[in-house]
Amino acid sequence: MKSNDSVTAIKWQDDHLKLLDQRLLPHEVVWLDITNTEETVSAIRDMVVRGAPAIGITAAYGIVMAAGVHYAHSPENWQASIQADLELLRGARPTAVNLVWAINRMSGVFELAEGDPVPLLLTEASAIHEEDIAANRRMGELGAELITPGKGVLTHCNAGSLATGGYGTALGVIRRAWNQERIDAVYADETRPWLQGARLTAWELIEDGIPTSLVVEGAASALMASGRIGWVIVGSDRIAANGDVCNKIGTSNLAIIARHYGVKFMVVAPVSTCDPNMPSGQDIPIESRDPTEILSLGEQRIAAAEASAWNPVFDITPAELVDAIVTEKGVIRQPNTEKMRVLWD
Ligand code: MRU
Repeated sequence: MKSNDSVTAIKWQDDHLKLLDQRLLPHEVVWLDITNTEETVSAIRDMVVRGAPAIGITAAYGIVMAAGVHYAHSPENWQASIQADLELLRGARPTAVNLVWAINRMSGVFELAEGDPVPLLLTEASAIHEEDIAANRRMGELGAELITPGKGVLTHCNAGSLATGGYGTALGVIRRAWNQERIDAVYADETRPWLQGARLTAWELIEDGIPTSLVVEGAASALMASGRIGWVIVGSDRIAANGDVCNKIGTSNLAIIARHYGVKFMVVAPVSTCDPNMPSGQDIPIESRDPTEILSLGEQRIAAAEASAWNPVFDITPAELVDAIVTEKGVIRQPNTEKMRVLWD
């Protein structure tokens, strides 16, 4: 049985970044060459690469390329001239805190560079990438231990290899739990409007030999009422200091339904996703995207001609609906501000 981690979305090759174009999956596997800040920002904004940790890793490699350009133009002044690129990267998507976290971590080593900063920055970006995979493996172990065998799990969006440096957060737990025969079945919400569940989660799990059944989001209550689900397992784009969880729109619906039916709710996210500066979920900036993402399917308009749409792409699950936050530093059960402090102390 293969159930490890055969899918990768981000590669550094020679002097530039290669990104798997996630907009085309699963029907086409196309790698794009990303060579400068403008292309890095577009790739993040336009969903070539998506998922909080993957966005952060992409920005880190983007800074390596930006530093090369600015150092070549102005060896004495590159740290000042690169700032405009950092601003563009910061603004590419507003919700996933991993983006700002990675930019801050990369900026933190600028001062250490003597001469050409590229080798040092590439080492840092690679470390961010490798550490993310290691964190996911650790969270996979910790999260799987929470699962009592005998039921299925439900996941939302894609919090897998494609959304991270590799292995995944929620899907890391599912991979590990599947290996350990702790789960009977994996259900994935199709996840409107980008269909990350149908296109990405189902693809990457099936690539690894893990059978996956898709459900429409409206089926969540019926599925949980059926008694088939032991845990809902999701990732996050940002976790506030009080344990409120920001994740793909529709996540909070699942948490509410899960509590109603006595299903457990697990959030799996590295410490880089936890934001000590955000007191509660209400403070987290929620990205709103183009209504046409809802009104059309690809190029094809599906909504009535006069219809408009509201398209916030993340929501907040209150901490009191979360049974466990799994990080690489440990598991926080029934999170609150007090318990979350362990991540930053
Ligand atoms: O809009 P997306 O596809 O970037 O949204 C991704 C999610 O909501 C994921 O659940 C989250 O980033 C966690 S990824 C490990």
